[in-house]
Amino acid sequence: MKWRVDFFITPLRAALAALAVVGGVLAFGWSGLFNVAATSGHWPITDWFLHYVMINSVKTRSLAVETPNNLDDPALIARGAGHYASGCAGCHGAPGRPRNPVIREMVPTAPDLDPKIPTWEPKHLFWIVKNGVKYAGMPAWVSAEEREDEVWSVVAFLLKLPGMSDETYRRLAMGAENDGAVGGLTALAHRSQGPAPREDVLADCARCHGRDGMGRDGDAFPIIAGQSADYLYDALAAYAQNKRYSGIMEPAAARLPYSDLAAVAEHYAAQPRSAPAGAKPPDPALVARGEKIAREGLRDTGTPACANCHGPGSEARNPAYPKLAGQHASYLETQLRLWEKEHDSRGGGPFSEIMRKIAFGMTEADIKAVASYYASLPPTPEQ
Ligand code: HEC
Ligand code: HEC
Ligand code: HEC
Repeated sequence: MKWRVDFFITPLRAALAALAVVGGVLAFGWSGLFNVAATSGHWPITDWFLHYVMINSVKTRSLAVETPNNLDDPALIARGAGHYASGCAGCHGAPGRPRNPVIREMVPTAPDLDPKIPTWEPKHLFWIVKNGVKYAGMPAWVSAEEREDEVWSVVAFLLKLPGMSDETYRRLAMGAENDGAVGGLTALAHRSQGPAPREDVLADCARCHGRDGMGRDGDAFPIIAGQSADYLYDALAAYAQNKRYSGIMEPAAARLPYSDLAAVAEHYAAQPRSAPAGAKPPDPALVARGEKIAREGLRDTGTPACANCHGPGSEARNPAYPKLAGQHASYLETQLRLWEKEHDSRGGGPFSEIMRKIAFGMTEADIKAVASYYASLPPTPEQ
């Protein structure tokens, strides 16, 4: 009798072979022979392959991303820098702040970004920061779908990062009055253990908002001085509970207990509200149009007069309605645009539903006009 081996692939054989492969992989996993130790690192070829896949994935998936033309705006850069210090530096390090030794033991590790930035285009960086990188420990942006504008602020900063001096970084990330206290991930690297004392909390807010609540770097941060403590607390609690969307403020608020949120709300409510320095003179025609909307509303869309709730006027209003007078126009515009979007990207406190209905249907021109009007008003306490 002769041996005959036939090599025909039949469906049954293919299925058996596939089962054998799956079984082999499972058995290998079950055996515990694969070494998951970070100390053993990746083989050079695995490392090369993973990066090859990552780089190609980022480039393909960011093809449709449109890059805005304001990435040189100093306010945008300062906003991104403020977040970088608490949200990224803890892993990637920063000028004058080398990566923590613990981070260097991650596989893959969070790289020093200085030499990496020039290898990417802005839209690639946008995609990485917005979506994060799977299997690598690089997190996605908090509220990524709602707040692409914030992701761009980080990209604006990253583009300036290569070669940045320690001094420039400190000023951009901590503000001029900085005292080095940073919350967030960086706190893990720089602060000793134990509950944060209130002074630390305020020092972190002050990096961006100043101790006086007037912000810094033009319109990089909203003015929170002299806003009612009720509104400030509602806003902070909404961020902390992911009911108001911001990849910058959600982590800042969520790391604090409510007692701290109430205390900082009281602090900022007690600060005098003044006119922001260096604001551009508004366009009188735009302001006039905005005033009409604020006082009379918009008949076509049934938009009520904003002044009923936000002033100007001296009647006592609900303290949950924020003051808009003297606020940066760009900030007011952003908030209105977020509400105007069909899927409501703003969220907010217990009364925010009111604003969603009001902002819905407002045109870009209405938004610009009414924001410009409120920004032009003197920020008097009773507005
Ligand atoms: C928990 C740690 C961690 C945090 C926080 C983090 N990253 Fe990363 N990041 C990583 C790791 C790990 C990688 C490496 C991914 C890889 O090698 O595939 C990475 C990769 C990157 C890259 C791509 C670098 C390259 O290989 O070219 C950029 C850009 C980046 N991060 C920016 C940021 C920014 C901006 C922030 C803050 C908004 C941030 N990261 C926050 C861990 C972190
Ligand atoms: C990294 C910079 C940064 C830090 C730190 C920071 N903020 Fe903010 N804050 C912002 C930005 C940017 C916004 C605008 C967010 C938005 O568009 O919703 C904001 C918004 C706010 C608002 C909402 C203002 C309004 O009119 O609705 C409040 C209140 C606030 N911050 C308070 C605080 C407090 C209190 C702290 C400290 C616990 C703090 N922030 C820490 C950058 C920061
Ligand atoms: C019925 C009362 C009411 C009316 C009318 C009203 N608002 Fe509001 N507005 C609110 C409330 C309440 C909030 C706070 C929402 C939140 O964040 O929880 C708010 C918040 C805002 C904010 C965000 C402020 C900040 O600091 O983040 C803007 C901007 C705003 N309103 C603009 C307008 C404009 C423009 C109009 C007129 C077209 C208007 N509002 C009409 C009640 C009102």
